[in-house]
Amino acid sequence: MFLMRTRSWNNNSLLILCLTGLYLHTNGITVLIPHHFVSASVDENAILSVEYRCTGVPTIRWRQLSSRGMTNIITWEPGSYQNISENYQDRIQQYRNGSIQLSNVQLYDAGCYVVTVTDKVGGSKDGVIILNINVLFAISILLMFFLWICNQSVELYKMKKRTQSVTDMELSAL
Ligand SMILES: *[C@@H]1O[C@H](CO)[C@@H](O)[C@H](O)[C@H]1NC(C)=O
Ligand SMILES: *[C@@H]1O[C@H](CO)[C@@H](O)[C@H](O)[C@H]1NC(C)=O
Repeated sequence: MFLMRTRSWNNNSLLILCLTGLYLHTNGITVLIPHHFVSASVDENAILSVEYRCTGVPTIRWRQLSSRGMTNIITWEPGSYQNISENYQDRIQQYRNGSIQLSNVQLYDAGCYVVTVTDKVGGSKDGVIILNINVLFAISILLMFFLWICNQSVELYKMKKRTQSVTDMELSAL
């Protein structure tokens, strides 16, 4: 009786071991990204939204891909530690589901963001989000600046013209 129970336990554990092996083999990590394109205006906050499933203890890492290569933004293990890069220290917030929020986005934040979920047995999965920064606001400031320059130039031109005509009048009076 005792022997039989042991044997059946052994069979079950073998089955579980097999299934676990199969599961690990097929990589027990899922990274789900609902929106691959995210838009925000300058000085707004942007949420890079993701949801993951991981059979073991995950490490979540966000990086930005640019012409300079991959820049680390944040790496954390839920409930254990977090490591935030200097440039993002006071403008990033991470959520339980793996998402991050970037505060006060600027034009240089536009680009490609890569999230990587890694487990302890070396499995990992990536997800990609493109962040687009709307430039309408920035452009309107630029346009206002040009308008101001234009006004100043016109005033300057008029002033020069006036001085010129006064000089001409003085010359003709001589
Ligand atoms: C993850 O959590 C954040 C904050 O609660 C939320 O804004 C975001 O939509 C969530 N993402 C998904 C894919 O559920
Ligand atoms: C945190 O990140 C920096 C730079 O990416 C790295 O040099 C450092 O070793 C990391 N610290 C931990 C605890 O991971």
